[in-house]
Amino acid sequence: MCMEFRFDVHKIRKEFPSTNKKVNGNPVAILDGPGGSQVPKMVVEKINDYMFNHNANEHGQFEPSKKTEELIMEGRAVLGQFLGCSKDEIAFGPSSTNNNFMLALAIGRDLEEGDEIIITDMDHTCNRSPWLMLEERGAVVKSVRVDPNTCLLDEEDFKNKLSNKTKVVALNYASNAVGTITDVKKLIKMAHEVGALTVVDAVHYAPHKPIDVKDIDTDFLLCSAYKFFGPHLGVLYAKKEVMEKIRTIRVMADDIEEPPYKFQTGTPCYELICGAAKAVKFISWIGKDYEEYFKSELEGLLGKRRSIVAGMLAIDKYEEELAEYLRCELEKINGVTLYGAPANHPKTSTVSFTHDKINSMEICEELAEEGIYGWNGDFYAIKLVNDVLGLTDRRGLVRIGFAPYNTMDDVKRTVKVLKDILE
Ligand SMILES: Cc1ncc(COP(=O)(O)O)c(C=O)c1O
Repeated sequence: MCMEFRFDVHKIRKEFPSTNKKVNGNPVAILDGPGGSQVPKMVVEKINDYMFNHNANEHGQFEPSKKTEELIMEGRAVLGQFLGCSKDEIAFGPSSTNNNFMLALAIGRDLEEGDEIIITDMDHTCNRSPWLMLEERGAVVKSVRVDPNTCLLDEEDFKNKLSNKTKVVALNYASNAVGTITDVKKLIKMAHEVGALTVVDAVHYAPHKPIDVKDIDTDFLLCSAYKFFGPHLGVLYAKKEVMEKIRTIRVMADDIEEPPYKFQTGTPCYELICGAAKAVKFISWIGKDYEEYFKSELEGLLGKRRSIVAGMLAIDKYEEELAEYLRCELEKINGVTLYGAPANHPKTSTVSFTHDKINSMEICEELAEEGIYGWNGDFYAIKLVNDVLGLTDRRGLVRIGFAPYNTMDDVKRTVKVLKDILE
């Protein structure tokens, strides 16, 4: 007999006091997950615990210093379990944008005039600007187009741009503006065939789907803990043998030749690393309840990685039900245009639309009055939203994004309010 999938959203909401707020007498519906998720109590408590009880720099001879080393080592290991890699392949920095600039500065040191870099029109500026900066050093940067009708990356255009001059391919795993998931594994394989390094922006993908960096075989992958229930911290996966070779920007000290230390400059944010690790443990805490349901998908996975992946699969399945309901209801409203990949194409639970009479900012203002937190604009996917989709005059897209603390009631109320505003 088939097991029924029942997501215990009420158990999860107890971890998020912010979901109980009222706005103008209405219950709040926090639908700006793609901008940053809410943070569960257990993560905040972990950060507090570090600050109150263990705060010290590493490499001292006294107890809190040794405890800090232990916690940071554990933090790297847990983030490694989240991404499917070893602790030596995890580095931290203030944000993914900052990490990617550091990476581009390092890789750029060994580029020659005329070397080519491929970026995409799909990407957040985080995975475009650092590479465009290298044009100053003579690199030639080419951006792969996105089809405005389907919101899919044009793979033919990618193939045409790829050559043995390509040294870096910077790709987007999932679009934070329209939710499209790109088959990065296939494109990475092609990039490696011409000898290019690959950098995947998984900032929007990470809160929605399990990641396996070894399966997609990327050289680098970026994600940000504040999108998956953690604090504001950038996490970089760097394939060990590749990180060993690149000439990172760093201070001159003998003890930081090893990855990941050669990537990190200055004293890391210890408290945030503890918080990011706890955020992954929160996902694994969710996952424990669904290991049986996802038994076949989890085959071969052991230990913490098993419950983390189960958590991500449960989150994804639950959010997708909410998103699908919203997409269907929006399609029925006159004047609404939905932006996103076709029905059968993989996507995240991020739903984006415009209305032909009321601009996206006005829509979000009215939603906010009712306690519904959506977002409008280009979300720094500037090229996609403004140039490819041409939505500057509409004040960009309205974006409704789901997290596991949202309920079907949140969605139904959003639909009702949208109908009142738009019809
Ligand atoms: C897809 C994507 N990439 C990159 C970023 C930037 O991440 P960070 O704020 O950690 O620099 C964001 C932030 O919204 C994003 O959605």
